[in-house]
Amino acid sequence: MSNQFDVAVIGAGAAGMMCAAVAGQRGKRVVLIEHASKLAEKIRISGGGRCNFTNLHATPQNFLSQNPHFCKSALSRYTPQDFLGLMKRYRIAYHEKHKGQLFCDNSAEDIIQMLKAECSAGNVAWRMPCKVEAIGKNGDVFRIETDAGEVLANSVVIATGGLSIPKIGATDFGFRIAAQFGLKLIEPRPALVPLTFDDAAWQRFASLSGISLEVEVETGEKKTRGHFREDLLFTHRGLSGPAILQISSYWKPGDALTLNLVPEVDIAEALIKDKGAIKKNLDNQLAQWLPARLVEGWLLANDLKPDMKIADMQDKQLRRLGESLNKWTIIPNGSEGYRKAEVTLGGVDTKGLSQQTMMATQVPGLHFIGEAVDVTGWLGGYNFQWAWASGTAAGLAV
Ligand code: FDA
Repeated sequence: MSNQFDVAVIGAGAAGMMCAAVAGQRGKRVVLIEHASKLAEKIRISGGGRCNFTNLHATPQNFLSQNPHFCKSALSRYTPQDFLGLMKRYRIAYHEKHKGQLFCDNSAEDIIQMLKAECSAGNVAWRMPCKVEAIGKNGDVFRIETDAGEVLANSVVIATGGLSIPKIGATDFGFRIAAQFGLKLIEPRPALVPLTFDDAAWQRFASLSGISLEVEVETGEKKTRGHFREDLLFTHRGLSGPAILQISSYWKPGDALTLNLVPEVDIAEALIKDKGAIKKNLDNQLAQWLPARLVEGWLLANDLKPDMKIADMQDKQLRRLGESLNKWTIIPNGSEGYRKAEVTLGGVDTKGLSQQTMMATQVPGLHFIGEAVDVTGWLGGYNFQWAWASGTAAGLAV
């Protein structure tokens, strides 16, 4: 078995398999090295087992990075339509669920098998399970020390992903290699993750656990502002659901979130307007816009009696209640961390990478792709689109 290759790709996840297949099909001798014994676990568990593999509306605006322009080149050269072309060749059925999000009809396993077949079409050699212990560079050649012996390659592509879900193989390997070769890191932190609150402060809302509703949520200022309209889910520890996962990527410790629980209605105005005309109880009045259980819990949390008549309430009181629903401001104390995060924000600083080839500008032959790089997509198939696009950009360049 030869140990000399044109390209060694470390990490056989979404980006690594895509890159290896593209390079192999260009005639490069490629080895793909993966330390886990099960292939592409993140693809397998993604999208509830059906993999939200891309988003029809993906644009650079759907990604966070210290340099928002960095992702433009790769995303424009490998688009969601390109990935759909591949899916069609393999006759993999899919459907659109919500806002351009595409899922497999059958299972995420279809995508894993397709990428494996694409690697075979490029005669990619596999080392799996195989642990990379160290990477060095002698002249133009990289020496990769593994627990199955040494591998030599002219190019190395680091596709080891981010830190989320350590129990299925996530490591900081990519970040360590970046530091070793003098690249900077944008401090990583969990993103697309549920947010938590102080136990004592959350006690008031604990009874709302399980309630879900569409809300508007925002945080941050000007350039770093995030704003989404999605579903919110109350949990026994805090807030989750797509609205919170999305905003978590924009949230910084200490910052407040502002939520509008009834985006279509100015609650204070509506209640004040109805005061004269309607003799209804406060809870019945609110229940026309909100789930009854939320109304009950909300009134209790705000020290209001459900059976109060709005006609007997002062405008000031109704305004306060309206603001609590239309402009609920709350400060999380943290997140559920990498254990629950779908992605890692931050990573290898794009300042040190070429946006065309994903190569480290100061280390010829060393490339970084996928989630290891400081490019993080929104929830909704964007992160896989970045994996395919950055993997292809490097695969065409090595
Ligand atoms: P990825 O993590 O896929 O692959 C990295 C590979 O490197 C792994 O196989 C790992 O074992 C290997 N590795 C790590 N260290 C190594 C080492 N030292 N030596 C050798 N190998 C090593 N995105 C999306 O667009 N749509 C979705 O539906 C979802 N759903 C989703 C659900 C859940 C639960 C999670 C956790 C994440 C998602 N995501 C997602 C995010 C998406 O899974 C993620 O962004 C991509 O998998 C990133 O692809 P990469 O190839 O960069 O890393």
